[in-house]
Order: sequence, then structure tokens, then C-alpha cells
Amino acid sequence: MAAPQKPLQSTGLDSRLRDAGLFVQQAVRTFRATGAVAPSSRALGHALARFVDEREKPDAPLAIMEAGAGTGAVSRVIAQHMREGDTIDMVESNPEFAGRLADQLATAPDLNPIADSATVHQMLVTDLGTDRSYDVIISGLPFANFTAEEVREILEYYFTVLRPGGHLSLFGYLYTKQIKAVVAPREDYLRQARSSWVVEEWVNRYGIGTERVMANLPPAWIQHLRRPEE
Ligand SMILES: C[S@@+](CC[C@H](N)C(=O)[O-])C[C@H]1O[C@@H](n2cnc3c(N)ncnc32)[C@H](O)[C@@H]1O
Repeated sequence: MAAPQKPLQSTGLDSRLRDAGLFVQQAVRTFRATGAVAPSSRALGHALARFVDEREKPDAPLAIMEAGAGTGAVSRVIAQHMREGDTIDMVESNPEFAGRLADQLATAPDLNPIADSATVHQMLVTDLGTDRSYDVIISGLPFANFTAEEVREILEYYFTVLRPGGHLSLFGYLYTKQIKAVVAPREDYLRQARSSWVVEEWVNRYGIGTERVMANLPPAWIQHLRRPEE
């Protein structure tokens, strides 16, 4: 007689594979909003979570916002850097991703410990309202796919809800402009160039550091910005 089979346990790997599958499916359906072919790597997550670690006041809890949380690849890493009393708003416009994230907060061993401190908001980040304030904003939004006006509106929103002295970390992918210059229609190349100039304008005003993360698909750049004290 065959030995009784053990029930299949959900491992971290199962969960990451399911996330990757959902991500690719949604990337095919909604590439403009999703803006990536795979969830971010842990290396990118750790680099983005820098100001959850580096705190001006080590004992003061942080209010954190993650914009464009997707299936939670970066959220899981942020969770590792959070301390008691910290809170996080995870904002995600895609209902499939937001639903998956809420399920994972309830059940996944790497997200469940922060479930009581986390809120998933299924909406556009600019619809979250201005009656709130954050110490750290981590943005996963695919600015390269947006118009210059959309990027400006979102950056203005971030700097409205970021407290003076607070940090914004955002990322994009290396070499996309160069690749688009060769393969994309001229209007799309120009649209991306214009939206990247808006990001550059904010980096010139508020940038405090940049990083490259090669261990990501595709390799990524990060910009860290700080809202000046008033
Ligand atoms: C590049 S993916 C990043 C996902 C995840 N943070 C990661 O790193 O794997 C961008 C995410 O932003 C979401 N998104 C796009 N525009 C948005 C908006 N205006 N407000 C909130 N989420 C948005 C997309 O649905 C997608 O999940």
C-alpha cells in the first residue's frame, strides 16, 4: 500500500511563485499601470527600505506609505525593517494585487506579523487624500509609463503628505530610455523623456542619494529624496 501523502504545505517559495504568476498575468493585461515584468527583488526592497532603517529619532515610530505595492514583494522586505509602533499604508490600484496583498497579510508568515499595523488601500495613490502625513514614502509606481503631468501630480502629492524632514525613495529601470530610443515609437520615447525630466527636476531640488541595484529584473536605479525642514 502506498504511504499516505503529506498535505502540501504552503512554503515561501510557493507563495512567491504564485505572486510571480499573478504579476506576469497582470503585466500582460495592464502593462501601462503595472510597468514591470516581475515583482521586485529582495535586494531592491532592502535598498528602498533604507529610511525605515536609518531614523533620525530611533525611538519614534514611523508612519510609512508604500505606493504601488503590487503583490507585496517590497512590502515583505519593508516588514522586516519595521519596528514596534510603526504603521504602513499599502496603496495599490489593481484590485487583483490589492486582494492578494490583503490575503497575504492575513496568512503569510513574512507579512502577518505586521498585519495589525498595515492597511491596504485599493485606489490610485492620489485618491488617498491629504489629511495624512508620512515619515517615509516608498514608491513603486512605474513613472516611465506615465505622462509628465501624471508624474508631476503624484510627486506633488507625495511632497504634500510627506512631513518636513521625511524621505521619499522611488525606483525605475536602467537603460529603458536608451532601449526605447531604438525600438519604441517616437511619441512614446518623447513621452518617457518628458516624464523623466519631471523626476529629474524633483531630484535636483530634493535628491540626497542615488543607488543602482543590478540584482533585479531588470536592473534598477533608486533615487532618495528628502523634504526640507520648514
Ligand atoms: C512596478 S509595479 C511594482 C509592484 C511592487 N511594488 C514590486 O516592486 O514588485 C507598479 C505597481 O503600481 C501599481 N500602480 C500603478 N499606478 C498606480 C497608482 N496611480 N496608484 C496606486 N498604484 C498604482 C500597479 O498596479 C503595480 O502593482
